[in-house]
Amino acid sequence: MVALSLICFLSFSSVVVNAAHTSVTNVRSHSSSFGVKSSSQITMLSNSANDYIQREGPLAQAGLLANIGPKGNQASAAAPGIAIASPSTSNPNYMYSWTRDAALVFKVIVDHYARSPAPRDMSLRTLIDSYADAQSKLQEVENPSGNITTGGLGEPKFNIDLTAFTGSWGRPQRDGPGLRATTLIAYANWLLDNSNKTHVNTLWPTIQLDLDYVADNWNKTGFDLWEEVSSSSFWTTAAQHRALRQGAELAKALSKDDLAESYSTQADNALCFLQSYWNPNGSYITSNTGGGRSGIDANSILASIHSFDPSAGCDALTFQPCSDKALSNLKTYVDSFRTIYGINEGIAENEAVATGRYPEDIYMGGNPWYLTTFAVSEQLYDSLFVWDAQGSLQITPVSLSFFQQFSSNVQTGNYEADSQTYGTLTSKIRTFADGFIAVNGNHTPESGSLAEQYGKDDGKPTSARDLTWSYASAITSFLAHDGILPIPWGAQGLQIRRDANGHCISNPGPMSEIVFEVERNTLYGENVYITGSIGQLGDWDPANAVRLEPKNYPSWTVRIEIPASTTFSYKYIVQDQRSGQVTWENDPNHEVASPFKGQSVVLSDTWHD
Ligand SMILES: *[C@@H]1O[C@H](CO)[C@@H](O)[C@H](O)[C@H]1NC(C)=O
Ligand SMILES: *[C@@H]1O[C@H](CO)[C@@H](O)[C@H](O)[C@H]1NC(C)=O
Ligand SMILES: *[C@@H]1O[C@H](CO)[C@@H](O)[C@H](O)[C@H]1NC(C)=O
Ligand SMILES: *[C@@H]1O[C@H](CO)[C@@H](O)[C@H](O)[C@H]1NC(C)=O
Repeated sequence: MVALSLICFLSFSSVVVNAAHTSVTNVRSHSSSFGVKSSSQITMLSNSANDYIQREGPLAQAGLLANIGPKGNQASAAAPGIAIASPSTSNPNYMYSWTRDAALVFKVIVDHYARSPAPRDMSLRTLIDSYADAQSKLQEVENPSGNITTGGLGEPKFNIDLTAFTGSWGRPQRDGPGLRATTLIAYANWLLDNSNKTHVNTLWPTIQLDLDYVADNWNKTGFDLWEEVSSSSFWTTAAQHRALRQGAELAKALSKDDLAESYSTQADNALCFLQSYWNPNGSYITSNTGGGRSGIDANSILASIHSFDPSAGCDALTFQPCSDKALSNLKTYVDSFRTIYGINEGIAENEAVATGRYPEDIYMGGNPWYLTTFAVSEQLYDSLFVWDAQGSLQITPVSLSFFQQFSSNVQTGNYEADSQTYGTLTSKIRTFADGFIAVNGNHTPESGSLAEQYGKDDGKPTSARDLTWSYASAITSFLAHDGILPIPWGAQGLQIRRDANGHCISNPGPMSEIVFEVERNTLYGENVYITGSIGQLGDWDPANAVRLEPKNYPSWTVRIEIPASTTFSYKYIVQDQRSGQVTWENDPNHEVASPFKGQSVVLSDTWHD
């Protein structure tokens, strides 16, 4: 019985970080310095949230473990280390394992394991090892998204016996590999800190497959985390960015410098792209670029808490929970549910309400979700922690309306922790945060079971019962309430380069050089150009093609810097200076992979007549 032997899995009430003015850098290596102090100061503000956390914490832990096979009593048919989404087998049938959900669930387990003092719980270690093992097997399973080398890693869900799910579905979903990498890297980092590099080397091939997938595919569209919209998605980009950033660090620690450089280049580019989701008009994050909705979506709240790095302060670049953009976004998101759910009626505009995935949602009638409502509280607790740690909070024009909910006369500025404004705001924000916990508490049955949703009008649990992700979200929110922090992941001090218009400039990454040569007879006034599938060759646009110079006519040549180790296709064209007429060489396209970083090659091509 896994659940019984793990009774001390989480001890929410006893361990509280001494939050005020703690240096939060290097939390990973100094986790043993977490102090224990009376919780009265932090936790007595809202008794109903507190009571609920005391009662629900152990039940959420048991509920989560019960859904992991085969020892979990709701998942006995699942392969070892497989987390089912829910034991519900009809309306809806969630008896599958989603790569995303499983990674988030195991992140909770790994973080707890890594945080625990020795002697650690070996049954948790066994569970983590079986997760890693099962995921490595799933990577090999050919499925409707492809096989291990042709995109199969983007498959969203599998049968619980490790076979492919072949029904129609919203695929691919490109957040899974990055989330899984982040979970396995958290484990790998713990192993490195605990002198077990041998096992990190065993895990590395699995991690690398996921990171390579992310590095190659982050700039493509896919289905969002709710499996409905195929476009670019904020959550997905944020998860990919984090995975690449951590992957680069781990690769470096394993002396894989070339990989570290390429992950880091793609992390820079994903971070650039992440900025583009901010919608300055509405002061919120447009969660999907497609779908025809407002874009107001729990996607962005979940991304902010998944991106939380206690050492990164309130940096808006990674949409840290206390960043002005993330707080403004939180207000827009929460407010969008005030009038559409009956159970939120009559609640004051600055008090907590039940929230759902997005206001336009119609799935199962469009209801509040436990995990989204918990996520709001978690973002607020994360923020409170950082403000206390840095000893101040800042109000910018972007976050002003968020803070004015709690003090209508408050102005932009920097407020030190000993100021009255700081005291008033943080105390009201803590009450606000506790309110979201209490709202979920009011809709949790006596048994502590957390379904996926509760009715927007009757407040009764609905849709899939015992959703594993609901339990995981309760646990991370309760931990944040108690100031127990996730481990920093490298969000601190990140920077992007901007052009004169303030737009982020992508990092081309390591370059190589190609000398293109081709023979072509031309008439007076005609010149030979090259164009192709990459920006350096003008993206197939003759107007941006690169001109070759004659060299021993009819031979033409040009030397071009190309991103290293990149496969691309191209054609030569002839353009008439006077008429502008373009003559393309015939199919097929030339295709080539550029050499490694810093290297140079000469390609002597034949014009395709
Ligand atoms: C994956 O599919 C490609 C294309 O069909 C094929 O060439 C390759 O051998 C397959 N790889 C595996 C491991 O099955
Ligand atoms: C390293 O970790 C693996 C996986 O948990 C374990 O089997 C092995 O015994 C560990 N090795 C050492 C030296 O601790
Ligand atoms: C790919 O990246 C570029 C540059 O950031 C961006 O303009 C484009 O929208 C991205 N496309 C996708 C599908 O991510
Ligand atoms: C912001 O507003 C401007 C002017 O009204 C409009 O042209 C633009 O499309 C809006 N952008 C977004 C992302 O809504």
